[in-house]
Amino acid sequence: MTTAGAVDDYLYSMLPKRDQVLTEMEEYASEHNIPIVGPAVARILQQLAMMINARRVFELGSAIGYSTIWWAQAVGEKGKVTYTDGDSKNAERARGYFARAGVSKRITLHTGDALEFLSEQKEEFDIIFNDVDKDDYPRVLRLVAPRLRKGGLFITDNVLWSGRVAEKNPKESSTKAILEFNRKLADSPEFYTTMLPIRDGLAVAYKK
Ligand SMILES: C[S@@+](CC[C@H](N)C(=O)[O-])C[C@H]1O[C@@H](n2cnc3c(N)ncnc32)[C@H](O)[C@@H]1O
Repeated sequence: MTTAGAVDDYLYSMLPKRDQVLTEMEEYASEHNIPIVGPAVARILQQLAMMINARRVFELGSAIGYSTIWWAQAVGEKGKVTYTDGDSKNAERARGYFARAGVSKRITLHTGDALEFLSEQKEEFDIIFNDVDKDDYPRVLRLVAPRLRKGGLFITDNVLWSGRVAEKNPKESSTKAILEFNRKLADSPEFYTTMLPIRDGLAVAYKK
C-alpha cells in the first residue's frame, strides 16, 4: 500500500460493494497471498476502459482472473479480453470464476509466457495491461507500442513498488527494473504518461 492508512481506509470505504464472485475472489486472494489489484484500482481500470470505449484488452499477468473480470465487464458483450498467466492452476481457477460471472464468452485464456504471446499478436488492442513479474517490465515496454492502437492505453500496476522506487541505492533487481521501466516510459515520445499514486502505483500511458 502506498497511500497512507487512514486515507486508504476512507478510499476503500467509499467503494460500492462488489458482487458475490468478485467478493469471493478478493477473499481467496487475501487468504492465499495472491497479489490482485483490488477494488480501488480495478474500478479505475474499468473506468478507463469505459472512457475510451475499449473493446479489445490484452492482460499480461492475470492470476485468478480478478482484474480480467473487471475488464470483461467494461468491454461489453461484443468485446474481447485476453487472459494470460504462466500458472495453469491459476487459469483453471479463473475459468471457473469467469463462468460464474457470466463473462466466459468475452475472455480468451492463454497459459504460458505472456510476453511471448503478446509478441505473436498481429492485431491492435485498445488497452494493454501489464502486471507480470517486475523484472520483465522493461521488456514489456519494448513490445507494447506496435500492438496498441493510437489513442489506446498502456496501463501498468505496481510502479511505486511499495515505495522502494524512492530508495537511494536500490539493490533488488525488481526495483531496478521498475525504475528503468518508469524512466523509459516517462521519456517515451510515443506515450503521454501519468503515474497515479493509488495502492501500489498505477502508470497510465496514452498512445499518441
Ligand atoms: C500480480 S499477479 C496478477 C494479478 C491480476 N492482474 C489481478 O489483479 O487480478 C501476477 C501474475 O502474473 C503471472 N506472471 C508473471 N510473469 C509472467 C509471465 N512472464 N507470463 C505469464 N504470466 C506471468 C504470475 O503467475 C501471477 O499470477
